[in-house]
Amino acid sequence: MADTSSLDQLLQQGTSELRLATDEASLRSWQNRWFGKTGEISGALKRIAEIPAADRKDYGQKANAVKETLQKDFDLALEKVREEALEKDLAQGRVDVSLPGRQVLPGRLHPSTKIMRRILGIFGELGFETFTSREIEEDEINFGMLNMPPHHPARDMWDTFHTNKPGWILRTHTTPGQIHAMKLHAPGPVRVVLPGMCYRYENITSRSEIMFHQIDGVAVGESVKLTDLKGTLMAFIHKLFGEKRKIRLRSSYFPFTEPSMEVDMDCIICAGKGCSLCKKTGWLEILGAGMVHPVVLRNGGYDPQRHSGFAFGLGVERIVMLLSGMDDIRHFWANDWRFLNQF
Ligand code: PHE
Repeated sequence: MADTSSLDQLLQQGTSELRLATDEASLRSWQNRWFGKTGEISGALKRIAEIPAADRKDYGQKANAVKETLQKDFDLALEKVREEALEKDLAQGRVDVSLPGRQVLPGRLHPSTKIMRRILGIFGELGFETFTSREIEEDEINFGMLNMPPHHPARDMWDTFHTNKPGWILRTHTTPGQIHAMKLHAPGPVRVVLPGMCYRYENITSRSEIMFHQIDGVAVGESVKLTDLKGTLMAFIHKLFGEKRKIRLRSSYFPFTEPSMEVDMDCIICAGKGCSLCKKTGWLEILGAGMVHPVVLRNGGYDPQRHSGFAFGLGVERIVMLLSGMDDIRHFWANDWRFLNQF
């Protein structure tokens, strides 16, 4: 009978050391010590050669049995720590399926876009086609063709962003679009509204922005009169602000209209009595307007002896502010979702 007590001891030692390994890292280091190339098990197997031939078979069988037992125990222990680790992980990152889901926010139109579409819709019903033109405009069309030659003092009414290409600027109003529209239709009649972004080199305050939308309108034909302008604007204001609104025309000046006027509407809050919105005047300034100046008619391709026209221009953000009770124009381009979401 071969002496295999050293192998019994080996098995005992391996088993008790294995029991001390309680995570994957310590199990791996146990595996290295016992099953590595120079580990205890390969040492025991190598010793087979030194055993006297008579005992070799017994010893070899026993050594292999020890190896198998330890290997099995190791496999079981590894599986166990892995399961434990998984369970711990699941418990920590647990998903509460009863929680309400996160809402996907739908996109929506910018308040300016919404009102602009509404205004264009109203003018559409009144027979005005929508006509868009470029935002980067020739100085000559933004000013010159509108009866403001270079150095004309009225140019100061529009502080201008220039580009690095001489003669090209960011349009300061949508009025140059009138020239484009007239040239396209003359000598036939034209009746269009011109929406778009305008730019002015100004200090940004609660009342003024460097970019804003305007909508211009122009109608030219053989007998367009000031009463047509007044009727059109009254119909527009009644549709946008309600049938009760009154308007008044106040004399003003624009180089491209003659006569020129500001159009006021009785205050939507106090109906003329005077409040903080209308600064105690009872009236709100809504738009600029007038009869197209003969020089502008000629620049547009019409004969001022035969043709006449009216024109107007309004600020879209100002209308949104009036309709919604906003008091700071800077909200429009601040991209604050909480502001935009209210519309
Ligand atoms: N373009 C003018 C402005 O920006 C508005 C206007 C347009 C006035 C058309 C009269 C006619 O203030």
